Amino acid sequence: MKFFADTAEIADIKDLAAIGLLDGVTTNPSLIAKSGRDFKEVTKEICGIVNGPVSAEVVALDYDGMMREAAILRKIADNVCIKVPMTLDGLKACKALTGDGSMVNVTLCFSANQALLAAKAGATFVSPFVGRHDDNGFDGMELIADIRLIYDNYDFRTEILVASVRHGIHVLNAARIGADVMTAPPAVIKGLVKHVLTDKGIEGFLADWAKTGQTI
Ligand code: G3P
Repeated sequence: MKFFADTAEIADIKDLAAIGLLDGVTTNPSLIAKSGRDFKEVTKEICGIVNGPVSAEVVALDYDGMMREAAILRKIADNVCIKVPMTLDGLKACKALTGDGSMVNVTLCFSANQALLAAKAGATFVSPFVGRHDDNGFDGMELIADIRLIYDNYDFRTEILVASVRHGIHVLNAARIGADVMTAPPAVIKGLVKHVLTDKGIEGFLADWAKTGQTI
C-alpha cells in the first residue's frame, strides 16, 4: 500500500521522505490555508521533494472553471495530480483531464456508487473519506471494502486512495482490504512505529548493555 502524506507542511514532508515513507502527497484548500503559504508556490516546492503524485485541488465548481484552474496547476510540475470534487462537473473534468494525460484524484467520495462513477470517468485516484464517514455514523471501512469489490469485479484501474485517515486502525484495515493508497497526517504515519513492547525492549537491552561496560 502506498503512503501519501495529507499535509502542505514542508518540514513534515521532507522528514517522511527521508525516512522512506512517502509515495506522494495530498493537499486540499483547508490544508493550504493551514500552511499559510501561497498555493502555487508551496505546491511547486512539494512537487520538488516528492517523486510521486501531489494532489492539488481546484476550487471552481463548474466544468470550465475547473479546466481553467487545472491548466494552471498542471504547469506547476509533471507530478501534479488534479483534485476535483465528486460532482457531475468534477467527473466531466476528470474525463477530459485524464484523457489528456493528467493524473486526477476525485475527492469527497462517500458512497460506493460515487466511486463507481469516478472509475467510469477514468480517475487515477478516488478518495473515500473514512474518518468523516465514521463521524457521521457510517462505517468507513465497509465503504472501502465495497469499492475494492466493485473495482475488482470490473477490473477498474482507478486506485482507491483512503483519505480522512485518523489513526492506525484505519491504516491497518485499509491494508487488509487491499486499498491501493492511504493518505494520513504525518503524525498518524509516524505513530505507526510506536509499540509499548518495542520501547520496553529497547530499555531492557540498553540496561543489560550498560552492565557489560562495553562500547561499539
Ligand atoms: O485530504 C482529504 C482528507 O484526507 C481530509 O481529512 O481529517 O479533514 O477529514 P479530514
